[in-house]
Amino acid sequence: MAPHRAPETQPPLSDREIERFKRDAARAAAELVHDGMRVGLGTGSTVAHLLDALGERAGQLRTARFAATSPRTAAIAAELSLEVCDLDELGELDLAIDGADQVDPAGWLVKGGGGAHTREKIVAAAAHRFVVIVSAEKLVPRIGPPVPLELLRFGVRCTLAELGHSVLRDADPSPDGNLIADYTGPVEDPAELAARLAATPGVVEHGLFPPAMVGEVIVAGPQGIERRPITA
Ligand code: 5RP
Repeated sequence: MAPHRAPETQPPLSDREIERFKRDAARAAAELVHDGMRVGLGTGSTVAHLLDALGERAGQLRTARFAATSPRTAAIAAELSLEVCDLDELGELDLAIDGADQVDPAGWLVKGGGGAHTREKIVAAAAHRFVVIVSAEKLVPRIGPPVPLELLRFGVRCTLAELGHSVLRDADPSPDGNLIADYTGPVEDPAELAARLAATPGVVEHGLFPPAMVGEVIVAGPQGIERRPITA
């Protein structure tokens, strides 16, 4: 596999390094979780490291409660003896932690590589603090395609035609039974594109997360761990 390029960290990172950096970022974020907190858990391979770290401390997190963004995250968390609750049961969250596919210098995110971005956005919005954990190759100078989409099945061909530059993913449906697609056209201005995608009938949710939603990005790379507060 071709090495991944970390725009802000040369030389390119190997798969093994990326995995180590995902784990380092996840372990740094796990330290933010304390007993009694209500915590949103994202989805993906970086979050898998977070779950491992929280699982090691399950004995000290007996009264912490967790809302999961996917059935897979919920199953792993429950297996690790973390108390998983319905988001509506918790009402609001003290903290949510999740990975991302791209992070730009202003704090715009692209999420949804795993097709869970709708639930991830709901959980992030319910949290007082949303912390993003990434390995350094996820940092990009500017947001680019693909931008994940969750689409209603009804009239999906019409929705795709309306969107333009969008392709259905050959993947499982979302946890809520909708279809996952990717917008592959140009991204000149993330805010403009986010508004257009949100206004297209049939789009349940898109994977652009605005900086206003993000509290902090924890980046792990060859230089160690960097914590970037996002002020939008
Ligand atoms: C899932 C997501 C993930 O957070 C994103 O795709 C990053 O995944 P990974 O941690 O496996 O690199 O948005 O919908």
